[in-house]
Amino acid sequence: MERPRRLRTSPAMRALVSETRIHPRDLVLPLFVKEGATEPIAIASMPGVVQHSEESLATAVREAAELGLGGVMLFGVPATRDAVGSGAVDPEGILNRAIRIAKDAAAGRTVVMADVCLDEFTDHGHCGVLDAAGEVDNDATNALYRTMAVAQAQAGVDVVAPSGMMDGQVAEIREALDEAGFTGVAILAYSAKYASAFFGPFREAVDSQLKGDRRTYQMDPANAREGLREADLDLLEGADMIMVKPAMSYLDVLRQVADRSSVPVAAYQVSGEYAMIEAAAANGWIDREAAIMESLIGIKRAGADVILTYFAAEVASKVAQQK
Ligand code: PBG
Repeated sequence: MERPRRLRTSPAMRALVSETRIHPRDLVLPLFVKEGATEPIAIASMPGVVQHSEESLATAVREAAELGLGGVMLFGVPATRDAVGSGAVDPEGILNRAIRIAKDAAAGRTVVMADVCLDEFTDHGHCGVLDAAGEVDNDATNALYRTMAVAQAQAGVDVVAPSGMMDGQVAEIREALDEAGFTGVAILAYSAKYASAFFGPFREAVDSQLKGDRRTYQMDPANAREGLREADLDLLEGADMIMVKPAMSYLDVLRQVADRSSVPVAAYQVSGEYAMIEAAAANGWIDREAAIMESLIGIKRAGADVILTYFAAEVASKVAQQK
């Protein structure tokens, strides 16, 4: 009889034959920075995650570097908003300030990435600017993404991460960066980003003003083939890395994207995925640490080279302790 159980007899045997491991360098920690905050502010729907002050951001990035995390992904929460998201392109805007602080704290030890999207900065909460009919204007939005990406590059960002799902955004941003002399700044494209209920807690995290939904630009959860098309287009447009988001409900898309991608593939375990684990664990319904590791192993097994997760720092310190 075949006896596969022989390889499961002890912790050492199981460790020897483990096909999938999480390394701190695989993980990217998303960080929120709130303009004017003097101390970290709790986010009720994401227990353990905060809106950082500039000071606490520096500490968090230093910790991330010391833990050996692959990177940090920065999101700005501005104090004021307008129709065109002016704070996003202002060199003194909160996200550009955060980039300078993070770069300084990282000191080359971990990669500093930033979100290129207008939703945190607009008073209507959409990822782009609106036309006269109130629809998100693709090409006018790309023009702003170009300026936003260059402003981030001037602040010192290593990787820009366009997440607005505008057509052509990667090519536009690449051209703008190159024209401004930032040929070394990489693009992590949110390629297959779905209009997901699992972004819910993120709205609280960035004080989002959105009413309505993002279904004219983010993808329909029903469509896997379309996700592959989006990934192919971003590769053609010059993306250095591509992403599938959210992770857990789209592991099939992640696997197919990973199988055809010529560049590293990231997956984002989003705010709602985090919140579900925390909420169930708080009720005593699941083993928190086991559920965290199983969720991340599943994402890596499905093909992710890089995982964005709010658990990054905790998991990195835990795997560092493992013998
Ligand atoms: C857009 C952006 C969002 C997230 C990352 N970038 C929100 C959205 O598209 O609605 C969601 C991340 C999460 O839920 O953890 N700036």
